[in-house]
Amino acid sequence: MTDSVIFTEDLTKIYQGELGQKPTVGVEGLHLDVRPGEVFAFLGPNGAGKTSTLKLLTRLLMPTRGRALIFGEPVSDNRTMRRVGFVPEQPNLYGYLTAAEMLDFIAKIFGLPASVRKKRISDTLDRVGLAASGGLAVRTFSRGMMQRLGMAQALINDPDLLILDEPMSALDPIGRKDFRDLILDLKNRGKTLFFSSHILSDAELVADRCGILNRGRLVQTGILGDLLESQTGSIEIAFIPAGGRPSAEDLARFSFSEQGGNRVVRVTRPEDVTAVVAAVQAHGGRLVSVSPQRKSLEDVFMAEIGR
Ligand SMILES: Nc1ncnc2c1ncn2[C@@H]1O[C@H](COP(=O)(O)OP(=O)(O)OP(=O)(O)O)[C@@H](O)[C@H]1O
Ligand SMILES: [Mg+2]
Repeated sequence: MTDSVIFTEDLTKIYQGELGQKPTVGVEGLHLDVRPGEVFAFLGPNGAGKTSTLKLLTRLLMPTRGRALIFGEPVSDNRTMRRVGFVPEQPNLYGYLTAAEMLDFIAKIFGLPASVRKKRISDTLDRVGLAASGGLAVRTFSRGMMQRLGMAQALINDPDLLILDEPMSALDPIGRKDFRDLILDLKNRGKTLFFSSHILSDAELVADRCGILNRGRLVQTGILGDLLESQTGSIEIAFIPAGGRPSAEDLARFSFSEQGGNRVVRVTRPEDVTAVVAAVQAHGGRLVSVSPQRKSLEDVFMAEIGR
């Protein structure tokens, strides 16, 4: 706990709602321990409690019970929060300023001297892919540009921890690639990243660890490699049968599918791999691939959420 970047214990938010309404669980009994330098993906379906948790971590909400520490200090500690950058779900930024003016405004709030502000702002705009847009009014920005600018405002103070709520939701595939590169670059510079996401394939590419939240409860946490390895162990064999004829009798006991002109069979036992490969070759067919099937984060997610 002493060197945790984010540590929560029984962190709970119950929304009381209007008089006569039933309380709603935002998040309940959350225990988290995010380590220095980790990229942690916080996953869960709509309404799972991701935003509630991120708001508790950034002091935008008060917990009903439990506690949250950042760099070992309560989130109420102002000095600690200066080391944190936050991008909310829908960054609501000053529309009438230009992007560069807005970043300058925020840099001044952080007390950055004029001598460093100018370079910091142009470097930051560059890092989020907005180098050419610094002079444009923010109100003219597209949703993806807003998300990039949200990231820029979070980076302006060179924080040690970044907390990001659905940072990729508005980005196109190139934007998501840029964003993944940015995350890995920040990680290489020793930063810790905690982000919520629905885009499981992107989370899979950058996260070291993930937590899956459902109905306010953490249902799974783990090192991504471990979660994805603990799987069925099935092996997929693709081949082109000889002369395009139906598969040989030796293969009759397996069931096949067609994929892009290849015949594909999935087996789990090593002896079946040997049998299929031998039969394909014995009949003059051509082997295309033998690939162990890895679980995707989506498989893990679906299994945990129980659909
Ligand atoms: N201000 C509020 N008042 C009452 N209930 C709320 C409030 N904010 C969130 N909730 C409820 O808390 C639960 C968790 O919501 P939250 O916004 O944290 O989920 P989320 O995981 O971020 O969802 P999404 O993926 O849709 O962004 C939901 O049932 C939601 O209706
Ligand atoms: Mg949310």
